[in-house]
Amino acid sequence: MKIVEEAMSLSSEYPILGIRFCLLPSPKEMMRMDSICFNSPWNEQDYREMQEQPSFNNWLLEIPAVGQVGMLVFQSVPPELEILRLGVLPSWRRNGLAVFMLEQLEIQAESDSLETLWLEVHAANKTATSLYCRLGYKEISIRKNYFRNPLGDALLLKKILN
Ligand SMILES: CC(C)(COP(=O)(O)OP(=O)(O)OC[C@H]1O[C@@H](n2cnc3c(N)ncnc32)[C@H](O)[C@@H]1OP(=O)(O)O)[C@@H](O)C(=O)NCCC(=O)NCCS
Repeated sequence: MKIVEEAMSLSSEYPILGIRFCLLPSPKEMMRMDSICFNSPWNEQDYREMQEQPSFNNWLLEIPAVGQVGMLVFQSVPPELEILRLGVLPSWRRNGLAVFMLEQLEIQAESDSLETLWLEVHAANKTATSLYCRLGYKEISIRKNYFRNPLGDALLLKKILN
């Protein structure tokens, strides 16, 4: 089995020393984090298949001596980038980690000359909608009854990069 790990050290002002992204996590690591963060998790096979697609990226946020605390999953199809999953371990929420991950994503997207970031979020997920609005994402449209578990509308949110 080929084990590859690539990490990105983050040069922001987030006050945790050595915080970094693991850029090539295994499907099992992703599945573990996903199953803690989401009610309808993707399984290991989902991640295995997605990781075969060149446009697909999954990052795990790691804190030295703590371990993995968050995840960001996206696909990049220039000039757009779609955010597919964003999660933080419950015990680490409300510490600015989601904002931090999205800021790092923007830095990466800008350096790749991408123009827009977008995502679909459950209309009832007020935590996430408030987070994205705070970061300048705008509601573009609504897809009625798009989500099944739980049933609900999807808001299409978009942010145009400078
Ligand atoms: C959504 C989620 C990723 C936020 O992570 P987080 O690290 O706690 O978020 P942050 O600490 O960076 O919060 C930033 C802002 O988001 C909003 N926010 C975060 N948690 C919130 C809550 N429980 N209630 C209301 N607003 C909230 C606030 O505007 C907050 O800013 P503030 O703390 O200055 O008020 C996390 O709650 C999570 O993993 N939820 C489950 C998975 C999910 O729903 N993912 C999003 C859909 S893809």
